Amino acid sequence: MAQRVLLITGGAGFIGSHVVKLFVNRYSNYQIINFDKLTYAGNLQNLTDIDGKSNYQFIKGDIASESDVNNVFEQYPIDGIIHLAAESHVDRSITDPMAFIRTNIVGTTVLLNTARKYWKENYVGKLFYHISTDEVYGSLGAHGFFTEETPYDPRSPYSASKAASDHLVRAYYHTYGLPTVISNCSNNYGPNQFPEKLIPLSINNIKNKKPIPIYGKGENIRDWLFVGDHAAAIDLIFHKGKPGSTYNIGGNNEWKNIDLIRLLCRIMDKKLSQPQGESEKLITFVKDRAGHDLRYAIDSSKIQSELGWKPSLTFDIGLEKTVDWYLANQAWLNAVVSGDYQKYYEQQYSKRE
Ligand code: NAD
Ligand code: DAU
Repeated sequence: MAQRVLLITGGAGFIGSHVVKLFVNRYSNYQIINFDKLTYAGNLQNLTDIDGKSNYQFIKGDIASESDVNNVFEQYPIDGIIHLAAESHVDRSITDPMAFIRTNIVGTTVLLNTARKYWKENYVGKLFYHISTDEVYGSLGAHGFFTEETPYDPRSPYSASKAASDHLVRAYYHTYGLPTVISNCSNNYGPNQFPEKLIPLSINNIKNKKPIPIYGKGENIRDWLFVGDHAAAIDLIFHKGKPGSTYNIGGNNEWKNIDLIRLLCRIMDKKLSQPQGESEKLITFVKDRAGHDLRYAIDSSKIQSELGWKPSLTFDIGLEKTVDWYLANQAWLNAVVSGDYQKYYEQQYSKRE
């Protein structure tokens, strides 16, 4: 019998697929159930490495559907939840906020209610782990960092919906005693990220000699973390995090968008065996994102000192690994940029030029 039965939501997405693979490979004595709606961002091709593993099961379902979620709890004696399923792209939240309200707020609440119902206040050995973002803290000026005590100040429909879900998770801990833990992470990058996000979008455009769209003047700053390091932090927090706590996770790796893209261009020139400077010619400044947060930067000293986590890769190495993965996985990229992606890209970028 499996020692633990874990429900991982959003496990076909970017970060979720890395978390699912880590848990399936590391914990052969756990039963891992990946529950995912397979939206445009969900892709079972991210999980082919673990196809057929006896401790792994995929179930297609919607976290905002009570019957879908009930069915899983009815079928499996779930004792741990790692909740990653979400609408995750800020630009899409600006054009279609309702999808974010439904999945991120209603979906999270359906999961919380169902866990309460099936765990029947017998909480020993149970955990509801909610994966969140640094964007809930708002936007920083030139100085300072987000700590676990920074007041929430979300400024996009995406971050507002994630903030609401964090508040609900904390409310269930305080009101009903549901054992919960939350982590708030900075920008992830790495293999399998959908090419609507800055780094994979730019890799794909450079490869196809298309303009690299930089919002505004490229002055906005993000703190980048390799996805494998986020997955390792999630593993530690799931096993050693204190119920009722929050952990900030970050790369201590701040980059202005324009400087990051210039570094990426240099790596791409080298990998494509073309003269240095070739990719940079594609940089195009376009209309800024509405309400564009200036700077995110995480103070991750709590997880470093309490749980002994730290990022393992430098940005140069992580970025090079990422580029290598996209260049070696042309079929994956071609499949995700066909069809709906073209429509999305057209709508998103034609109005910006
Ligand atoms: P993603 O968009 O790549 O994947 C989201 C996954 O959730 C997809 O597989 C999708 O099919 C699934 N999903 C969406 N709606 C669903 C629903 N209603 N029911 C079931 N499944 C559904 O997202 P990601 O970048 O991997 O982010 C995962 C989580 O991590 C999110 O909660 C996000 O807020 C958080 N996060 C992301 C980052 C980042 O840089 N990408 C940083 C910090 C936190
Ligand atoms: O900080 C964590 C968050 O990071 C996660 O919660 C989100 O799910 C994730 O999408 C990410 O949000 P960002 O908005 O920071 O990521 P994105 O890749 O969309 O953009 C990174 C920066 O690049 C941001 O300042 C906007 C800019 N940008 C983005 C795109 C897509 C551009 O200049 N051009 C683009 O085409």
